[in-house]
Amino acid sequence: METNLVLEQPAYKTSTFHFLWKVFRNPLDALTDLAREQGDIARVKLRRRDLFLLNHPAFIEEVLVRQADNFVKGPSLQRARIILGEGLLTSEGDEHLAQRRALQPAFHRHKMEEYLPLMNENTHTHISKWKDAEAVDMSDEMMRLTLNIALWSFFGSAPEGTVERVSDSMKTLIRLFPLAQMPLPESARSFFPSFKKAKASLSAVTEALLQHPKTERALVHILKQNNNGQFTDEQIHSHALTFLLAGHETTALLLFWCWDMLAHHPMEQSILQAEADSVLGDRFPTPEDIQKLSFTRMIVKETLRMRPPAWALGREAARDCEIGGQRIPAGSTVLMSQWVTHHDSRFYEDPLQFRPERWSDLDQPSTPRYSFFPFGGGSRVCIGEHFATTEAIAVLALTARRWHIAPAQRRLAKPKPSVTLRPDKSVRQIVSRRAV
Ligand code: HEM
Repeated sequence: METNLVLEQPAYKTSTFHFLWKVFRNPLDALTDLAREQGDIARVKLRRRDLFLLNHPAFIEEVLVRQADNFVKGPSLQRARIILGEGLLTSEGDEHLAQRRALQPAFHRHKMEEYLPLMNENTHTHISKWKDAEAVDMSDEMMRLTLNIALWSFFGSAPEGTVERVSDSMKTLIRLFPLAQMPLPESARSFFPSFKKAKASLSAVTEALLQHPKTERALVHILKQNNNGQFTDEQIHSHALTFLLAGHETTALLLFWCWDMLAHHPMEQSILQAEADSVLGDRFPTPEDIQKLSFTRMIVKETLRMRPPAWALGREAARDCEIGGQRIPAGSTVLMSQWVTHHDSRFYEDPLQFRPERWSDLDQPSTPRYSFFPFGGGSRVCIGEHFATTEAIAVLALTARRWHIAPAQRRLAKPKPSVTLRPDKSVRQIVSRRAV
């Protein structure tokens, strides 16, 4: 694969201030422009350390896989510890490896057989409440649905009021996350009562879920089984909170973006409906059906390409190293952006076009592995990848079987990058009952 790598990239030509101003105004455009101006490795001189943006799949693979030992999580995930503690997302090194090994059995492919009926039942209950021709807030709808699925799948129950408490706290934390990102002492943070309140509320919900599961699911079972051995009480709490939050928010956004695309691409929506009609009929999807719903899977992949809920990954170089001839000094920040790479015309023809069929097996060109990395890669690849993909396919197919989704506004929703890629404002869509 050709790269336009220049050995030892000079630091960003325009001023650092100008770059930071662009990031403040629109991070997606700022990173896209930086990649366009500097090529496969872009370098920006920050006050104390350099920032490198890697824009070639081979270099992304270097960081996530080949030289993964040279890197630790970037500053923003390190600071996410303020909320998540030492969970799987935030731990490092041998500690991370041991915890990942212990938790992995809850996410094996064959475990999906246990989770799929919960995904189906929750989806059925949720979409049965919609009224014909009503305008629903799709992002909120998908948040509630995926949260219910996560609660039932990981904790075995969804006690009354839990969904409301978690979603209210999440809204506050996401709004105040820039504050959590600032290197402030804990005492300074306590001046922000709503931040403290949201954190405490999530903590209380998590504790209640751990203490009183109706049915002990694999995740809680593993956590408790290993108590006083592998996991301390604090770690159990952090893991449970991590799965509660990471286990629903990103999937809800993926589903929201799928509906946004489908509402504006009626042809693709009708192919989805035809596939759901022929594969499912009036049944709930089985694991075999999930494999057969191939166009639905292509929609999921194309949406992950165009609207990746995780839009950038950050790492910090733990020691001096070299990537593609570029020296990366210890302490530098390295960024890899799914948004930038997934829109690169070297890897995707007409990258701004929503074309699910580009993912059909026959049509799949030999694009490099890391030109598509919505779930990250290497030993830190998302542990919930199969769970999220299965869930997205089941929700799309079951919904498409019963409902037609139309846009309430002319344009696609505008993506707003915060912790994850969200719509910039709430988006309504009109749901009409299909005559089936
Ligand atoms: C569309 C949905 C999802 C997307 C796009 C997504 C994306 C990601 C990405 C990019 C990473 C890597 C972060 C990094 O390397 O810094 C990650 C890690 C992680 N995800 Fe997901 N995720 C999704 C769904 C889920 C679900 C459903 C769960 C829970 C079951 C989950 C739990 C986690 C955890 C615990 C990690 C940390 C893994 C580790 O470091 O070992 N994610 N996710």
